[in-house]
Amino acid sequence: MFELSLSEFSRETFLRDYWQKQPVVIRQGFKNFENPIDADEIAGLAGLSEVESRMVYRDGEQWQAEFGPFDDFQRFGEKGWSLVVQALDHWSEEAAEMIEPFRFIPNWRLDDLMVSFATPGGGVGPHIDLYDVFICQGSGKRNWRVGDIGNHVEFAAHDALLHVEPFQPIIDTELLPGDILYIPPGFPHDGVTLETSLSFSVGFRANSTATMVSGLADHLTDKELAPELLSDPQRVLSNNSGEISRADFQQIQNQLLQLVENEPLMRQFAGSFLSQAKHELDLQIADDAYNNEEISELLQANKLIRLGGLKAFYFSDSVDQGLFYINGEEHSLSTDIIAAVKLMCDNVTLPPEMINSFSENENFISFLGELLDAGYWYFAE
Ligand code: SIN
Ligand code: CO
Repeated sequence: MFELSLSEFSRETFLRDYWQKQPVVIRQGFKNFENPIDADEIAGLAGLSEVESRMVYRDGEQWQAEFGPFDDFQRFGEKGWSLVVQALDHWSEEAAEMIEPFRFIPNWRLDDLMVSFATPGGGVGPHIDLYDVFICQGSGKRNWRVGDIGNHVEFAAHDALLHVEPFQPIIDTELLPGDILYIPPGFPHDGVTLETSLSFSVGFRANSTATMVSGLADHLTDKELAPELLSDPQRVLSNNSGEISRADFQQIQNQLLQLVENEPLMRQFAGSFLSQAKHELDLQIADDAYNNEEISELLQANKLIRLGGLKAFYFSDSVDQGLFYINGEEHSLSTDIIAAVKLMCDNVTLPPEMINSFSENENFISFLGELLDAGYWYFAE
């Protein structure tokens, strides 16, 4: 288990003073930190086509980026490169535990856990992220420079690498194992490895309005929702046929406002959209489907585990109606199993004592059966 120690500040103080506001170094945020995964395992993952990996290095002055899978690392030599593997939480249960201390930020804001294995001199270059990130230093040492938010000029150092022009650092420091650097979106940063190093980045994403609107449009089309036409039976005489009058413009705006003010529809959209996986899931489908009796027995003896990276949400305003959102789908469940499904959304691991009171509930067993068949939850061996 990873225990987060925010040293001089509490989680509340962190949220008030730093979250989305200021970068900060949290010295020994993880005391006695041990890598949850080693370099060989990371190299193994980078060899799989379903895992997103990237190698960044410099060829003379020219930055290079290559996408995995990789089967040979020898050609990169011993210095100056960085191997990045995305969505490590989807592929390693041990590494995924690093996210747990950050659960004071809700899961719908989480993007993924990324790992970077870097050799001396290696890094991805100076850049700006659209993410909030907690960079947790594992083994090795890395120097980090972070600049202030502002009008920084970005440029493509390579087709796959957006870099930023040199910046004045407001933080310039070495991270040692267990140290954490928090960086909000928009602050330029550059990490250069001093000693062969592993760093783990717990990243949180926020969508742009454009992304949300585009997702909403797809949702409305898929579900054949919001077909209402703008209607104007009260139309008054117009003298300028080229003009869109103030009243007409307000009606156009109102048509859209009515859509976004429709709370049930917006919850259905947001819940489905935000629970979609952004990276490939390593579905844990059992070789033989369980029957209800087996599920009931397993619930009483084994831990129930949510698949790494799977998103499962409910809204405080509609959970009492039994509405849940799991991996992009809305589920309308009977009210007697709300408490159980809430527990599954709130906890990655459920020991039997937390959930076995539902082991005889047929509605729950049947719903859990669907989730097990889909590979979304599984029982610990
Ligand atoms: C890295 O770990 O190499 C990059 C992490 C970051 O800058 O966000
Ligand atoms: Co970054």
